[in-house]
Amino acid sequence: MNVPLSKPYVSQEMKTRVLEVIDSGQYILGKNCKEFEKEFAQYVGTKHSVLTSSGTAALFLCLKALGVGPGDAVLVPSLTAFPTVEPVYHVGANPVFIDIDQTFTMDPGHIEKVLKERSKDPKAGKVKGIIPVHLYGHPANMDAILDIAKRYGLFVLEDCCQAHGARYKGKRVGSMGVAGCFSFYPSKNLTVFGDGGNLVTSDDKISQYCRMLRDHGRKEKYEHELVGYNLRFNEIQAVVGRLQLQKLDWFNDSRRQVARWYAEGLKGLPVVTPAAEDWAEAVFHLYVIQTSQRNELADYLKGKGVQTGIHYPIPNHLQPGVVNTSGAQPQLERTEEAVRKILSLPIYPELEKEKVDYVCASVGEFFSRG
Ligand SMILES: Cc1ncc(COP(=O)(O)O)c(C=O)c1O
Repeated sequence: MNVPLSKPYVSQEMKTRVLEVIDSGQYILGKNCKEFEKEFAQYVGTKHSVLTSSGTAALFLCLKALGVGPGDAVLVPSLTAFPTVEPVYHVGANPVFIDIDQTFTMDPGHIEKVLKERSKDPKAGKVKGIIPVHLYGHPANMDAILDIAKRYGLFVLEDCCQAHGARYKGKRVGSMGVAGCFSFYPSKNLTVFGDGGNLVTSDDKISQYCRMLRDHGRKEKYEHELVGYNLRFNEIQAVVGRLQLQKLDWFNDSRRQVARWYAEGLKGLPVVTPAAEDWAEAVFHLYVIQTSQRNELADYLKGKGVQTGIHYPIPNHLQPGVVNTSGAQPQLERTEEAVRKILSLPIYPELEKEKVDYVCASVGEFFSRG
């Protein structure tokens, strides 16, 4: 049996609508983009959304809009996709890496500790904000993070790239910070058959600024208020995104069902299954288990036709690009321990119970070999 790590959902209706858009002759920031932006903002519960060419572009535009620049510092988790960190460098600022809690998201206790230490260091760059990442689809501890941000006068920019539709105490991720950024990369909970992204906000100024900046700083067709970029979105992908959005709750319910099957099937085996907080409605972008025999288990599963992943094998504070740019980094114990043990098992909305049972049985076989 072959079980892929992830698989995007494709329907006949999506293919038909893509062909209609091709025939329409309108390809960039047209009617479907406008409607998708409205529908997405409504879904998250924000006033605006601005489609972008990727999640990375969405984060970059937000940081520009928030006035982050050279000499500034932004708090980011180390355990996240590298593109959470890149835009911080791209605006000329420096990331300050934060350790994780039991949910693999930013540890508020460590944020507070780092801020206290930096307040005693006159040479430390000014911390402007925090980027919590709702990693693997599990919301970060937002009340604690928002409280710290308020006390220190910092913005909170949510990285929701792995958490479309997740809720924290009933609120959708992306609606709690000053803005939230999403990715539509093919493995994500909502995909558009290529790269794509979106930023959501209820702040009129951020929305207007990002909207202009993503399209060459345009106010009118040939009037450029700002020197901007081309970080736009397109009609073919927007029509797909709109149809995917209609199914997002179903996708997430299915992912949660797969997670329950795994929790049941892995019971009693020497692996740690994902922690879920009471306040979280997670959307299981990834299903990440932990074992000290991670590499051996991954090899064994590969031999059984089961694709797995490691998200992520090198924490960002130890990435060569970071160390070369920002110098030696402090130790982040929980993150460094996690990256040695984490293993992502296959998960996607259409994953059948039979396949989940097969993966669990294969994990069981691995541990029962003498
Ligand atoms: C947590 C996180 N942040 C940012 C990104 C960047 O998104 P994109 O690949 O669309 O640029 C991703 C996706 O890879 C991600 O998983």
